[in-house]
Amino acid sequence: MSCPDKKPQLELKLLEEIRSRRSIRNFTEDDVDDNTVDLIIEMGTWAPSGLNNQPWRFVVVRDQTIRNEISTKTKYSKIIRNAPVCIAVFLDHSQSYDYVKDIQAIGACIQNMLLTIHHLGLGGVWLGEILKNKEAVEIILGVPEGMELMAVIALGQTTEKRAPEGDRRPTSEVILART
Ligand SMILES: Cc1cc2nc3c(=O)[nH]c(=O)nc-3n(C[C@H](O)[C@H](O)[C@H](O)COP(=O)(O)O)c2cc1C
Repeated sequence: MSCPDKKPQLELKLLEEIRSRRSIRNFTEDDVDDNTVDLIIEMGTWAPSGLNNQPWRFVVVRDQTIRNEISTKTKYSKIIRNAPVCIAVFLDHSQSYDYVKDIQAIGACIQNMLLTIHHLGLGGVWLGEILKNKEAVEIILGVPEGMELMAVIALGQTTEKRAPEGDRRPTSEVILART
C-alpha cells in the first residue's frame, strides 16, 4: 500500500543528516563490530564512479600496533591511536581510467561512508594530512602494487558533542552566478 507522506519525511531525514554530520575526533574505547564496518564500506561502494569503475579499495585497521605505526605518519596521530577502527581508502590504479574522475569518485565514496557513520550514531573523521607519507603507510599496510592511499577514516563510538551549525558559508557567497 502506498504511503504518500513517507517520501517527504525520508527526504527531510536525509537532509538533516547531511547537515548535522561533523568530523568527530574523540572516541570511547568501545569497539565497532565487523558487521557495522562492512555496512559502512558497502554504503561507500554505492557512490557513483565514472564508467562505474568502482576504483576504491579498503584496508580495515584494528590492530593497535599497526595503528600506532601508521599514526607516526601524521600530525593527527592521537586520532588514529585512539580510534578503535581506521579504514584506509585506496585508489586501485589497475581499475583507473581517469585520475581526476577516479579521485572524485573516491571522495563521493568517503562521504557516503561518513554519512553512514553519522547515521549509525557513531563518529568519524576523514584524515588527509597523512597523505604526505602515503608511500610509508602503503608499506606498513602491505597493500599490493598499484594501490594509492587516498585517505584514512578514523571512526568509533563517541560522546563528543557535534559542533553547532553555522560554520558554512551561505549559498549566497558560493553561488557565482545564476543565468
Ligand atoms: C580532503 C580532506 C582532508 C582532511 N584531512 C583532515 C586531517 O588530516 N585531519 C583532521 O583532523 N581533519 C581532516 N579533515 C576534516 C576537515 O577538517 C573537516 O571536514 C572540516 O573542517 C569541516 O568540518 P566538519 O567535517 O565537522 O563539517 C579533512 C577533510 C577533507 C575533506
